[in-house]
Amino acid sequence: MKTAVRGDVLTFRGNPFREAERDSLVFQRDALVVMENGRIAAWGPAAELLSSLPPDARIEHYPDHLILPGFIDCHVHYPQTEMMAAFGEQLLDWLNHYTFVTEQGFGDADHAREVARVFLGEQLRNGVTTGCVFGTVHAASVDALFEEASRHDLRILAGKVCMDRNAPDALLDTPLTAYEESRALIERWHGKGRAEYVITPRFAPTSSHGQLEMLGALAAEFPDIAIQSHISENLDEIAWVRQLFPGCRDYAGVYQRYGLLRPRAIYGHGVHLSDAELEMLHDSGASLAHCPTSNFFLGSGCLNLRRCVEAEKPVKLGLGTDLGAGTSFSMLQTMNAAYMASQTHGKPLTAAQAFYLATRGGAEALGISDKVGGIEAGMEADLAVLDLRSTPLLDFRMRHVRDLSEALFVQMMLGDDRAIAATYAAGAAVYRRDER
Ligand code: GUN
Ligand code: ZN
Repeated sequence: MKTAVRGDVLTFRGNPFREAERDSLVFQRDALVVMENGRIAAWGPAAELLSSLPPDARIEHYPDHLILPGFIDCHVHYPQTEMMAAFGEQLLDWLNHYTFVTEQGFGDADHAREVARVFLGEQLRNGVTTGCVFGTVHAASVDALFEEASRHDLRILAGKVCMDRNAPDALLDTPLTAYEESRALIERWHGKGRAEYVITPRFAPTSSHGQLEMLGALAAEFPDIAIQSHISENLDEIAWVRQLFPGCRDYAGVYQRYGLLRPRAIYGHGVHLSDAELEMLHDSGASLAHCPTSNFFLGSGCLNLRRCVEAEKPVKLGLGTDLGAGTSFSMLQTMNAAYMASQTHGKPLTAAQAFYLATRGGAEALGISDKVGGIEAGMEADLAVLDLRSTPLLDFRMRHVRDLSEALFVQMMLGDDRAIAATYAAGAAVYRRDER
């Protein structure tokens, strides 16, 4: 059965970092997005499409709203939902004092399921329809997340964290169990509905040489599967990696050595990467997830994103909330922080560029842009509906905007979860703000 949403539509057909905004951004006032069998069947001006709909088709009308592709969070830790906003430390102390304590609770499958439910509920309240998600070392933590995601038919990417050193014993696996449990999860979940497995070494310092070798072998067995980890987030972390892997030229060189740099490998942060490392990422086809609220929270530094996306050899980039070092589920607030970070380097991020990173850019970084991240016939029908007047202040401020760019910028600076009026996954409403 066909259903449709009606309102102004914003999507991207190109990359506004490399093409003019008028060539990359598509905006259609009073459009209709027609959905059938979980996909976008057609979209275009409502005046043209309305007559083609069967008379009984349900149309949800959102005047004064903007219909966007569902947001994509390229890097996030669902188990850390319960420890967001833990005070006062930089990365390595924060991991030891908060993260590794919290993650031990995920040996309990009921606890994992409860947190997964809260996490996914928050994502949907924020218009996030796809996340690339870290579990904990426990395979059951990933089962719980995929099970909960399947109830909403979400396109979700997730993996079991692998780590066999430099963490509490209760959180350690071994090279062999990391391989075997990850492989079993691939068999259980990869391609089931819209679930995708992601091979997930936490980061170089918590995996031995032997474990990285095993995960490289697993990655070679499954060349199309995504990989996620962290890279070059914090200066103490980088110095530690140098000590732990003296044979490798640099941090990116560690992942390259084990076959973990390739298309669909996405690394969080990358704040302090050298030119040579960025070039290595480009050459391998690997991507970065920019996690600005987390980088501010942990004092990690400000990524110079133009060094990645506008370089002669560009690196694909998406946006990540990186909860629970990240401070918000909202991709609007994450865009806000990305703008703040970009100010450090002179040429600020435009609104079009920020919305691109949160949608199509993220999908390209994850290698799923043929499925999600845009509004086009044939794509999966994942949408976020943005209420442009979601607070008294935004209602007032929007009366004074002169054009689309300004409207988008005001939304990403002042908007948050309250701006998401509805979220659709595979053509079905999975969240409606006014039905709380
Ligand atoms: N590096 C290794 N693990 C983590 C994590 O859980 N969060 C962040 N921000 N960085 C990491
Ligand atoms: Zn992270």
